[in-house]
Amino acid sequence: MGKTGITMLGISGSPRLKSTHYAVNAALDYARDRHKVETEYFSVQRKTIGFCTHCDYCIRKKQGCILDDAMGELHEMMLRADAWILGSPVYQGQVSGQMKTVLDRCRAVVARDPQAFRNKVGMGICIGGDRSGGQEPSLQSLIDFYLINQMIPVGGGSFGANLGAAVWSRDKGAEGVMADEEGIAAVRRVVDRVVAVTRLLHPSS
Ligand SMILES: Cc1cc2nc3c(=O)[nH]c(=O)nc-3n(C[C@H](O)[C@H](O)[C@H](O)COP(=O)(O)O)c2cc1C
Repeated sequence: MGKTGITMLGISGSPRLKSTHYAVNAALDYARDRHKVETEYFSVQRKTIGFCTHCDYCIRKKQGCILDDAMGELHEMMLRADAWILGSPVYQGQVSGQMKTVLDRCRAVVARDPQAFRNKVGMGICIGGDRSGGQEPSLQSLIDFYLINQMIPVGGGSFGANLGAAVWSRDKGAEGVMADEEGIAAVRRVVDRVVAVTRLLHPSS
């Protein structure tokens, strides 16, 4: 039987199963319960994901990436999904190195098929230990990735979720995220918008 509903993929770019893991899964749980979408989850935690070395194998061969590691599995999940949640902790005012590596490694997919990610919908969740620790510049980086790859970035609208979900963990892991009511409300508002836009693009789902 063919696919009927929307599939949403959540990716955590944290090397831990703490605040980012919690926030991305809270978004997926909400999407599943509220909007009845299918969900998939991938965390970089304990995964081997090498840096892009700019060897240009992907450009020359158009057969994907020369590196054989956990990105192979993630590339398949990315291609299957209609909508993505990129979730990252804020490191030095930006997305984590792990998240940046995931994004860089997507070059191989687009080198094989320039339309591979076209019209998939994307949102960001960025979690900082400080209330204003760089969540917005990090969200902007995720938005730029979506634009560069012909995806459709969405935020949650003004009054709370402007560029995506900015979450404040107070460096307290899942407990900190749970206490950030505004952050969780923002996550939900952006998920609502992702689902609405994805359904516009896939009216029969
Ligand atoms: C290397 C490193 C750099 C960090 N830089 C920032 C920062 O610039 N701004 C901020 O608000 N928090 C910063 N933090 C704190 C984390 O963003 C915060 O604890 C986050 O909730 C961790 O996510 P996790 O629990 O999913 O690993 C940093 C943490 C680490 C390990």
